[in-house]
Amino acid sequence: MKTLKSILSTLTILPFATPQSNLAAHIPNEYTYLLPRPFNNTFTQPFVDTNTSNPTVSSQLSRARNSSFISYSPEFDSILGPSPEVRLTASSPHPFAFEGGAWVPELNQIWFTAFLNPPPGYLTILDIATSKTFRPNLTGPAADVPINPNGAYYFDGLVYLTSFGDTTTSPTIVSIDPHTYETREVINSFFGLPLNGPDDVTLARSRTTGYPCLFYSDFFFAVEGLAGTWPGPQEVPNAVYRYTFADESLQMVISPLDIQTPNGLAVNRDNTLLYVSDGPDSAVFGQPYNSTSGTPGLYVFDLGGVDGCTPMNKRLLSIARQGFVNGIKIDDYGRIWEIEYEGVIVRSQTGKVLGVFNVVDIVGTDGPDVATGANFALAKDELFIFGFQKIYAVKLGKTVKTWY
Ligand SMILES: *[C@@H]1O[C@H](CO)[C@@H](O)[C@H](O)[C@H]1NC(C)=O
Ligand SMILES: *[C@@H]1O[C@H](CO)[C@@H](O)[C@H](O)[C@H]1NC(C)=O
Ligand SMILES: *[C@@H]1O[C@H](CO)[C@@H](O)[C@H](O)[C@H]1NC(C)=O
Ligand SMILES: *[C@@H]1O[C@H](CO)[C@@H](O)[C@H](O)[C@H]1NC(C)=O
Ligand SMILES: *[C@@H]1O[C@H](CO)[C@@H](O)[C@H](O)[C@H]1NC(C)=O
Repeated sequence: MKTLKSILSTLTILPFATPQSNLAAHIPNEYTYLLPRPFNNTFTQPFVDTNTSNPTVSSQLSRARNSSFISYSPEFDSILGPSPEVRLTASSPHPFAFEGGAWVPELNQIWFTAFLNPPPGYLTILDIATSKTFRPNLTGPAADVPINPNGAYYFDGLVYLTSFGDTTTSPTIVSIDPHTYETREVINSFFGLPLNGPDDVTLARSRTTGYPCLFYSDFFFAVEGLAGTWPGPQEVPNAVYRYTFADESLQMVISPLDIQTPNGLAVNRDNTLLYVSDGPDSAVFGQPYNSTSGTPGLYVFDLGGVDGCTPMNKRLLSIARQGFVNGIKIDDYGRIWEIEYEGVIVRSQTGKVLGVFNVVDIVGTDGPDVATGANFALAKDELFIFGFQKIYAVKLGKTVKTWY
């Protein structure tokens, strides 16, 4: 059976439809919690690498390793539809597609970033209709400030972008007009202290005040050994911070005692829930668990309080099966799409894994990072997977994302 990767390596120019029956693996949900004994695996390998005493079960799992889609549910099958298409939509000689993944509906573009190998990283835009990519020339008062950009989110006509800075420019969060590229700083300091390294950014509209609030996850990146980013010293705790436009107030709203190293962020369509992931170093670097490792958790909070934007009632929804939860997007149905080392995982609102877009098969494993993928974008009926030098688009069986 030809794998998707081998097909792609011979057909990199034209979009093509793939015969689907051999690309979607179906694994009984029961295997996720009940297996024939004895069985073995480790946290640092995907679930589908699990070996069991039953050769039929083991080979069913291992065959999934070479499938683009791994389904655990009829709901995932219906998201895929009868003929999901994977196509290489853009590529670059440099690793350009790693983080961000903001869909800009008014221009039908995806904004994405990469700061890895070699720095400085940069912002790139994918025009969905033509599959063309280009680097915008930022203008305005803060055009030169977002150095080594990372997280991106579109909200009310502007793209918000985080950056890790460099040895002389401290990290920042800017807004960019997607028509003019006019760039303004939104947040660069907490009472005179520099940010650590804002990784992700998302916005909600308060159901109480009607004004937006901006959340960002700030952690001190230099400790992860990433060259060329703001060297510190670290002046504020790793935490989720929130800026409320209603009263122009910047506050830490989730402390490191609640979430050790906050990473991915997402708000649901109704502005009632905030999702936050934890990316402890051990999990980020694919090390085995022990009693001192952090928890690669995916948490959900209600948004409430007098400002309507206070995260409260923290619940642990899930942990990552391999690695940690990085980029997160919530679809029209409240399902949670997030990326772990196994791939883009689609979860129900209760955290149940419905299915996986297997990045190991779609992208391969030769990227410049421990993870095969860090982020992705959702636009209507398409999923865009960032594979460093390549972007793959998966045409889904139905529209899943119509809002931002
Ligand atoms: C299971 O154990 C066997 C024998 O020790 C080993 O070769 C194999 O790599 C293990 N499999 C996994 C997925 O850990
Ligand atoms: C898989 O499990 C079976 C039965 O426990 C064992 O005989 C075999 O060596 C295992 N294979 C690997 C690669 O771990
Ligand atoms: C999966 O693909 C790899 C690389 O193409 C191949 O070596 C391996 O045998 C395949 N595994 C299965 C179970 O088909
Ligand atoms: C940005 O500026 C460079 C240098 O002037 C130019 O070559 C490039 O086309 C510009 N990019 C865009 C997207 O306008
Ligand atoms: C536990 O894991 C942490 C993080 O990966 C590592 O630094 C430490 O050395 C490990 N401790 C033991 C006893 O293995």
